[in-house]
Amino acid sequence: METGFRKFTAAIDQGTTSTRFFIFDERGEPVAKHQEEFDQIYPHAGWVEHDPSVLIKSVENCIEVATGKFVASGYNTQDICALGITNQRETSLVWDIRSGEVLYNAVVWADSRTAHIVRQLKLEGAANRILSKTGLPLSTYPSAVKVKWILEHSKAARDVYEAGYLAFGTVDTWLLYNLAEGHSGERLHVTDVTNASRTLFFDINTLEYDPFLTEFFGLEKLLLPKVASSSNSRAYGVLSRGPLKGLRITGCLGDQSAALVGQKAFEQGMAKNTYGTGCFMLYNTGNQPVLSRNGLLTTIAFQFENRPPVYALEGSIAVAGSAVKFLRDNLGIIREANEIGELAMSVQDSGGVVFVTAFAGLFAPYWVDDAQGTIFGITNYTKKEHICRATIEATCFQTKAIMDAMEKGWYSGITIKNLAVDGGMSNSDECMQLQADIIGIDVDRPAMRETTALGAAIAAGFGVKLWLSFDDLRGVNSRNHRKFSAQTTPTQRTRRFRQWERAVAMSKGWLT
Ligand code: G3P
Repeated sequence: METGFRKFTAAIDQGTTSTRFFIFDERGEPVAKHQEEFDQIYPHAGWVEHDPSVLIKSVENCIEVATGKFVASGYNTQDICALGITNQRETSLVWDIRSGEVLYNAVVWADSRTAHIVRQLKLEGAANRILSKTGLPLSTYPSAVKVKWILEHSKAARDVYEAGYLAFGTVDTWLLYNLAEGHSGERLHVTDVTNASRTLFFDINTLEYDPFLTEFFGLEKLLLPKVASSSNSRAYGVLSRGPLKGLRITGCLGDQSAALVGQKAFEQGMAKNTYGTGCFMLYNTGNQPVLSRNGLLTTIAFQFENRPPVYALEGSIAVAGSAVKFLRDNLGIIREANEIGELAMSVQDSGGVVFVTAFAGLFAPYWVDDAQGTIFGITNYTKKEHICRATIEATCFQTKAIMDAMEKGWYSGITIKNLAVDGGMSNSDECMQLQADIIGIDVDRPAMRETTALGAAIAAGFGVKLWLSFDDLRGVNSRNHRKFSAQTTPTQRTRRFRQWERAVAMSKGWLT
């Protein structure tokens, strides 16, 4: 047992395919953790749902098991000073605020059932106004269209809505509603600015919900959660059950924001790329929102208590780790996700195979909701190793497209000199080498890659004044980084990327 680290911080990381719970020491090293995968519900092609009660249960289990490990290592739960929550963003839930009864499964961010609603809404000519208020294009991705769909298809939800009792929340709000209570024992209906900024209800300039937006989506009667800063000493109350009952919750932020914080990318011009179920690049633009005309989103990166918000440009890739899961669970060509890197690098190249992993349309920078997953270039020569390689390359090529969009924007001046990475796929040396080979700049990987959970713990630590300034975090997550440098020539990179772009163009229009 290590001694001398008395102040621990904890984090719930409720992601798209798994839930985790971590307890970190003061250097940002995890001393106890537990992770659980849970079922994805795919009722139809393009639909993805989660059972709301399973999300809660998985969080409770993770807290219980990790806390057990922490105590078994000789630590004392009294030394945990704060808890942060981080979560898959945009995924939308509705429930009856009177009873807490949930009225539909959680509709997950990657779900594309709303493509027809989006097409319809685009005809109303408000897309630019919406973009300048929210930083988001009209697409199937943010919450508002998902809620609109639920109200069009669930009579139970519609009735509660008409009566004025329908509560909306992203996953952070749902967890806080069920697992926490306010400092006076009240139930909480609250979110943070980063999660609010993914709903299409929230004006990222004024930091308030905008009646124009709720009206535009026909959702004026929806009960929206109160919005607080991502690090906050009071708004998120305390845990109301389990072995850590009474623990103060002082951090709450969307998972991509948390990863930016966990990478300590606090300065304007710093960026990170997180390879999770999807893959998300955030570029810190400082205290001003910068609108993109190149298919990037503008989002609130984080807001610490009593400080102005920090904004980011975001490139969102819908499918990354979920494509690896697809090879494992649907095609059965790998047994474990971590086999993919070695298989991919056992061949010289993808053998001409390009896999556009558009399982539910393509996100940034393309935003094509009628693209579908397509594998090009299959011949008798093709082996599973080539498919593995093309699967990894799909995320790497989209990352390149996003970097190009960031650097080419009219707002430009942006140059990304190296790419800070984290998340599942970043654990593979082979994948990160491929990434460097495709983008032609260095990929920088920290030794401790649980940056999403760490970011939530950092936000929580600020909420209880464990740290007072970003300088205080110098010793946190500062262990050695590994650098991957490109081993390709500019000509090779251009040729391969052109092939990818041709494949993207040919994968469009399958749903018409
Ligand atoms: O916007 C969706 C994102 O928050 C999901 O993250 O890590 O579950 O892929 P992840």
